[in-house]
Amino acid sequence: MERVVDLQALNQVACKMVEPGRGILAADESSGTIKKRFDSIKIESTADKRRDYREMLFRTPKFGEHISGVILYEETLRQNAVDGTPLVKVIEAAGAVPGIKVDKGTKPLPFCPDEVITEGLDGLGERLKEFYEIGARFAKWRAVIDIGRGGNRAIPSYACVMANAHALARYAALCQENQIVPIVEPEVLMDGDHNIDRCYQATELVLKMVFEQLYLQRVALEGMVLKPNMVIAGKKCSKQAGVEEAAEKTLKCLKACVPALVPGIAFLSGGQSDEEATAHLNAMNAIGGGPWRLTFSYGRALQAAPLKAWGGNNANNGKAQAAFGHRARMNGLASVGKWQQALEKAA
Ligand code: 13P
Repeated sequence: MERVVDLQALNQVACKMVEPGRGILAADESSGTIKKRFDSIKIESTADKRRDYREMLFRTPKFGEHISGVILYEETLRQNAVDGTPLVKVIEAAGAVPGIKVDKGTKPLPFCPDEVITEGLDGLGERLKEFYEIGARFAKWRAVIDIGRGGNRAIPSYACVMANAHALARYAALCQENQIVPIVEPEVLMDGDHNIDRCYQATELVLKMVFEQLYLQRVALEGMVLKPNMVIAGKKCSKQAGVEEAAEKTLKCLKACVPALVPGIAFLSGGQSDEEATAHLNAMNAIGGGPWRLTFSYGRALQAAPLKAWGGNNANNGKAQAAFGHRARMNGLASVGKWQQALEKAA
């Protein structure tokens, strides 16, 4: 029997994820990535420590005021808080929607040196059914696109962009078939030495191909959220763009590529500093004019400060929650164009 997808319900979840004043906490670091984060504060990455750290974040007072959803790693989706409550319930009680990262990371793409493809499609339909039962109402799949160094135009290759766009759309269709809102995340990395215009070109190509694949694979745009990079210069580029230029070029690129039916765009931070990520989002919302909501889905730019304040010691939970609450509030303001630098100093 053909499954009936409740598109209106999908749309309601997507709209809730990008509500004015709220955005998404990406807390879905894989085992390898969270180990790197814990290494930076010199603590061992054990299941209990990962639980302690993430539970501390989710129990931040007024968590749901500025956080609409949380992307979880599979381990966390199945973990209980210290008092035995499933962490999924802790998140729901705080007024946020639980989500799940479902991709299985990247592998080298054959015949495309230095480029990668995201894996995890095999068996995904069955996994999504189980994740829905546990409480996930949205999912995330991250495709990674690099830009060649030293003006190398061979990267990104057509093959890499095409293969990743195809996989993103396959994932998104499987999510919707299982009543889960897909976050579609094609990340053009900011690691290189490219300038902002090269980032614009690569991001435009990637988004055009992603939306073509979403169309061809019959994904309902009103039931998804896009999670793109911002259009900015590479970290190693000697000429960094200002906040206004980045905001204008990102908005222009999105207007050229993202259909109006998409309810919202939730940016990744991608290695920007906490304040840069906030300032860019704020500048875009101050300009406005797009048909979609623009908000955040930050990992590092929300967690760097609380991770440092926590330092692996639960006695610091209060300080760490204050640091997290501050970044959530700053980004919540940026999501409606009402952030000001002076608010950072006041904290
Ligand atoms: P960053 O904001 O740290 O880039 O993480 C967001 C994310 O979910 C990457 O997949």
